[in-house]
Parts: sequence; C-alpha cells; structure tokens
Amino acid sequence: MAAHRGEWSSKLGFVFAAAGSAIGLGNIWRFPYIVGENGGAAFVFVYVFFVIAIGLPYMFAELALGRSVQRNPVGAIEAIKPGSAWKAVGYLGVITGLGILSFYGVIAGWTVGYIYKMFVGNPGNFGQFIGDPLTVIPLFAFFIIITALIVHGGVSGGIEKWSKILMPIFFILLVGLIVYSVTLDGAEKGLSFYLMPDFSKISGKTILAALGQAFFSLSLGMGLMITYGSYVSKKENLVTSAVYIALFDTLIAIMAGLVIFPALFAMGKSPEAGPTLVFVVLPELFLQMPGGLIVGALFFILLSVAALTSTISLLEVPVAYVVDEMKMSRKTVVWIVAFVAFLLGLPSALSQGASAYWSHFGWIPKRLASQDFLSQMSFIFGDFSLAFGAFVLSIFIGWVWGAKYAADEIETGSSAFSKGRQLWIFMIRYFIPVIIFLILLNLFGIF
Ligand code: PFF
Repeated sequence: MAAHRGEWSSKLGFVFAAAGSAIGLGNIWRFPYIVGENGGAAFVFVYVFFVIAIGLPYMFAELALGRSVQRNPVGAIEAIKPGSAWKAVGYLGVITGLGILSFYGVIAGWTVGYIYKMFVGNPGNFGQFIGDPLTVIPLFAFFIIITALIVHGGVSGGIEKWSKILMPIFFILLVGLIVYSVTLDGAEKGLSFYLMPDFSKISGKTILAALGQAFFSLSLGMGLMITYGSYVSKKENLVTSAVYIALFDTLIAIMAGLVIFPALFAMGKSPEAGPTLVFVVLPELFLQMPGGLIVGALFFILLSVAALTSTISLLEVPVAYVVDEMKMSRKTVVWIVAFVAFLLGLPSALSQGASAYWSHFGWIPKRLASQDFLSQMSFIFGDFSLAFGAFVLSIFIGWVWGAKYAADEIETGSSAFSKGRQLWIFMIRYFIPVIIFLILLNLFGIF
C-alpha cells in the first residue's frame, strides 16, 4: 500500500509541509485577536503551556498512528479496531477539515484582496470590503481553486519547494516589522499588555480559547498529523520533527503579536476588535511606514502563501479519506471536495455584513462566540471539534490501540525517546484526556 500512496521526498520535506500546515492564518490573524480578546499576556502564558504540555505530546501520538498504519484518519482507526464505532472520530476529522476549510478560505481570500489594496496604495475601509459579496466571494473562489489545483497536482513538487524559499523570507520580514513596530511612540504599552501577565484575567473561557487555539495552530485534533504522518518513512525521527513543527509554529505566532500589539497601542486602538484586528492594524502600519506599501504587498503575498500551505492540508484530509476508502481517483475527488467546501463557505463569506441573516446567525450562545456565521463556524470546527477530536483520539491511541505500541512507533527512528517513554505514556493515557475533558465540561457550564 505504501508504495502508491507516496512518501515525503525527505525529512525536510515533511517538516516543511507539516510546519506549512501549522503556520498560517492561525498564527498571524487568529492568535493576535484571541490574545486581544482574552486580556493579553496571561493568555499567552496559558497558550504556551498548552503547546508544550498537551499539543506536543499529542502530536507524537497522531504522527505515530499515521506512520504505523499508513492510512487516512478513518482508515487508520479501522486498521486498528475494525468495525468499531471509534471510526466516528475519523469521520469527525474529515468533516472538521471541510468545516475549517470553508471559513478559512474566506479569510484567505481577504488576504489576497489586501495584496491588491497594497499595490494600489489604498486599503480603504475593512468593514466595507468584507461586507461586499461581489469582492469576497470571487476571492474566496479563487483561493479554493488554487488550493485544489495544487492538491490535484501533488504536494511535493510545487509547494514543498516553494515553501522552502518563501517561509524563510516571511520570517525575515516579520523580524523587520517587529523592529519597526516596537520602536514606534507608545509601543511600550502594547509590549506590557502582551508580555506582562495579569493572571486575574484568566477564566474558563480563556482556558478553552487557549487550548482550542493550540490545537488549531498546530493542526491537531482532526487527524491532519495522522494523514501527514502516514507519508513519513520509518527511518525518520518523529520526536525532533514534532519539536521543530511546534517550535516554528509558536515562534511565528509570538512574533506576529510582537508586530501587532506595539503598533496597536501606538495607534491608540483597542485590542478587543476581534477577527478584524490584524486587517485594520497592519494596513495602517504599512501606510505610515516609509516604503510601506511595497512591504505591505510583500507581507500579504507571503501571508497568502502561508494560508495556502494550510488550506492544502485541510483539503488533503478529506481527499485522502475518499481516495483511500472509496478508491476514487484523486483528480476527481479533489474538485468535488473543493466544491463542497466552497458551498459550505458561502454563508461565512456573507456573514460579515453582506447578509443580515448570516451576520446575526447565533446558534451558539454569545458567551462562547460572536453571532456571525463565520465566528460560529470557527468556534464549532476551529475550537470545539478539534479539542473534542483530540480528546477521543488520545483515548483511542492511549487505551484502544495501546500506548505501548504507540510509544514503540515513536521510538522507531528516535531512540532517545526511551528516556521519556514512561512520562509520555502517562500523558497520553491520563493527563491529556483528563485536562481536555475538564475544559470541555467547563465549556458547557458544568462547573
Ligand atoms: N494550523 C493552521 C493555522 O494555524 O492557520 C490551520 C489548520 C490547518 C488547522 C490544518 C487544522 C488543520 F488540520
């Protein structure tokens, strides 16, 4: 089976593809606004704690399962426990991939729109821009089509090569922007909001937001790492790969905050703007910067590429499922799934002012998510579903497959893991599921 499914061309190829999936709008757009909504530095601390204590050890588990059985999330569970109801969590992963892709593609479309705005030198009004269906829908469609074309053509040739060049440029550009932002007048207030924790600001909602963001940002909880892990060779070291992925991902998110918050406070704006935050602050920053429009155009180009490496991975999960399990041709499947994601994304595209109905949808209570359809999708699929998926998958891997087999798989290619083996087994069987469970209970107001 392995032969025709394909493998990453190299260790670097895998780490880049997985880091490419992890690094995206989650780091640059979602992380800063969630930090802003949740009171700043204290949230950042909780977030980093979750990345290290839950995200990273959980990532080992998904990668190990994927590499061990070399299947998509549904097939992987079927291979371990044939005919059982556990398969449902595989389906949940496939649906979550579609759900996230549907609203994520809309925002990715906005970033493409901003490339143009930077070139013409007039960002205009953000609210008007996202409320105009005749702009956002074509941009969204464009983004989904590009994603489908790449997934259709195979990931390794084009996107692997590209991201190896473009991601380092993105990194350097971020460093430059940080230097500029922290030297603005009034930047200190932003730095202290972002870096000096006030732990009284932590609540149940904050903690769930931090956990959800950790899963979202690391691309965990929906079987993406099972899928990408299934293309990894046995020779490779899963532990160091996962550490690199988590490290780069967290670094980029922290850096994004170092650009946004000093600039935001220097402009005298409120950090609680929600999803619009980055799109309002950054263009203004570029406008006042010497040569800023060029920098801005470059920034939004690179952000679009970062988003693209993530949408590719989001599409890859449902596609891998249909290709493996229904034995349909990859080329057809890609376009069908992409079209479904597009249809599912239309309400999100219309929910930012274009349609009153979708803008005030409100199935989910206000205390959990804003009322527009996009925010509700982001909560259901981007937070809840990932946390819930990780909860069930950690039990599946720790108890049903068996933590011992998972640990053996992790140790293959990474002998040093034997030192942390017992700790990891404890984490995957007890610590991770219990913590996630408590946070989910809290979400439903059980405490
Ligand atoms: N990790 C991506 C980001 O931070 O932008 C989003 C994402 C991609 C989530 C793939 C989940 C996933 F499976």
